[in-house]
Parts: sequence; structure tokens; C-alpha cells
Amino acid sequence: MPPFIGSQEHKELLCRFFIETHDPYKPSEMPWPKLDEAARARLASLPIWEEAVRTEADTALAVTVMGECEKDPLLAKAISLQGYEESRHAELLRLLTQKYGIPVPDFPATRPQDPDWAFMRIGYGECFDSFFAFGLFALARDSGFFPPELVTLFEPVMQEEGRHIIFHVNWVAFNQAKLGYTKRPSYVFRRGLAMWLQMVSRFKTALRVKGKNDRAQDNFTMSAHKSFGDISPREFVELCLSENERRLKPYDERLLRPAFVPTVAKAALKTLPKKPVAEAVAA
Ligand SMILES: [Fe+2]
Ligand SMILES: [Fe+2]
Repeated sequence: MPPFIGSQEHKELLCRFFIETHDPYKPSEMPWPKLDEAARARLASLPIWEEAVRTEADTALAVTVMGECEKDPLLAKAISLQGYEESRHAELLRLLTQKYGIPVPDFPATRPQDPDWAFMRIGYGECFDSFFAFGLFALARDSGFFPPELVTLFEPVMQEEGRHIIFHVNWVAFNQAKLGYTKRPSYVFRRGLAMWLQMVSRFKTALRVKGKNDRAQDNFTMSAHKSFGDISPREFVELCLSENERRLKPYDERLLRPAFVPTVAKAALKTLPKKPVAEAVAA
């Protein structure tokens, strides 16, 4: 690690970057477009809403609690701002599902027992999710799956997740660098465990979403084929990589970027089929 990581300057840059790039939009004041029935049904067919609403509500509470527990005032300010941004994501999803008639049950958010551990796990989960979400969002935008007005509406959310994952990797590296050499191995273990548990939980979620929403999933897969056009798994991962780079580029170069998922994705590229997804699924 460069000596900058873990320094006072690192902490100040990390918090300043986060606070200064905050976008003060309000979900209720956003220009929600009127969708025709075909566009509304396409949106409703995405098999993600229940999981997305639950995740954002839990994340908002966990990050807010972490902001309240953090002793360092500057870090507390940045983390609390992140908590506010997450609660805005939850509100945005709530408004979207209400406005477009997508039924989602109410989820009481779960208060974390160990805020530091919850925050670390959330960060790794977001590193994993954002990488693929950036690619999917670009695909939905370029293929016309999402109406342009909805793309504009969700653009700040995507960019916000980019800021969150930069904050996460730097927060973890800063905390680790501050520890003495004797305490570092257990922190590294904690990091590895958090990362591993989040990956396992993502696979479980994918299975749960598939199991519960088989019909919705089928509808989505069919409409996605028509609207996303032919894209091979390799092209999709290439798109995720380029979108990931584009989204994270604007921020100060001294800040670390998430490396694990892009590195694994690059390594996997050569083995991924060149055949379009539609053909692979039909086969
Ligand atoms: Fe979020
Ligand atoms: Fe986030």
C-alpha cells in the first residue's frame, strides 16, 4: 500500500470527495414520466423489485446507524450522508413501485447488531452489485428497454453507487492501515470473510429470486431478449468493465478503486462464450 493510504490526508480526501460530489436531488420532485402500458408492463416484468426494495431499506438503516456510531466527526459526516443517499434510494424505489403499479410488500428494516460489520458487508455487496448494475443499466439505456426519461431519473442513483464503492474500498484500506501490524491479520480475515459472505448471499438471492418469481423471470427473460438485442456473455462483461471504468474515472486518482470483481471479470473474459445470450438460453 502506498504511504498515502491510512494517512490523515487520505481520510480528508475520502470524506471531502464524498461530501463535495453529493447530488441534492429529491425523489418526490423528480420528473416522473407517464409510461404507456407496454413500457409499464416491461418495467413491472423485471424480477427484482421485492429484493431491491428490501435491500435498499436495510442498507439505509444500517448505514445511518453506522454514521451515528462513528467516532471521527468527518467520517461520521460522510457516512451519515451515505445513509441519507441510501434512504433516498429506498424512497425512489417506493415511489417507482407506487407510481407504476408494481406490487411490493412492506419490509420492516432490520437494525444491525454490529454496525461496523454490517457496513463492511454492505460495501462488498455493493462492489459486486454495482459492477453488473452499471453494465445492465447501459444495456437497458442503449437498447431502449427503459424509456429515456426513466434512464435520466435513475442516472444519479447509478453514479451514487459508484461513489459508495469508492468510499467503501478506501474506508476499509484506511482502517486497515491505521491498525498496528499485530492487529492487521485479523482485520484482513474479517475483510475476506465479509467479501465471501456477500458473494454467497448474492448467489442465494439469485436463487431465491428465481425460485419465487419463475413466471416473472420467464416474462422478463422473454421481453429482455426482444429489447436488449443480441449480446454475448463476453460482450456483456466487456460492457460492465468499460462502464465501471467510466463511472469511477471522474474522482481523484489518489483514491483506490474496487479491484476484486473487475480483476475476476477480466480473467473470466477469455472463457466466456461469444454467442449471444438469446441463443445460449434458447439452446
Ligand atoms: Fe443504494
Ligand atoms: Fe449504495
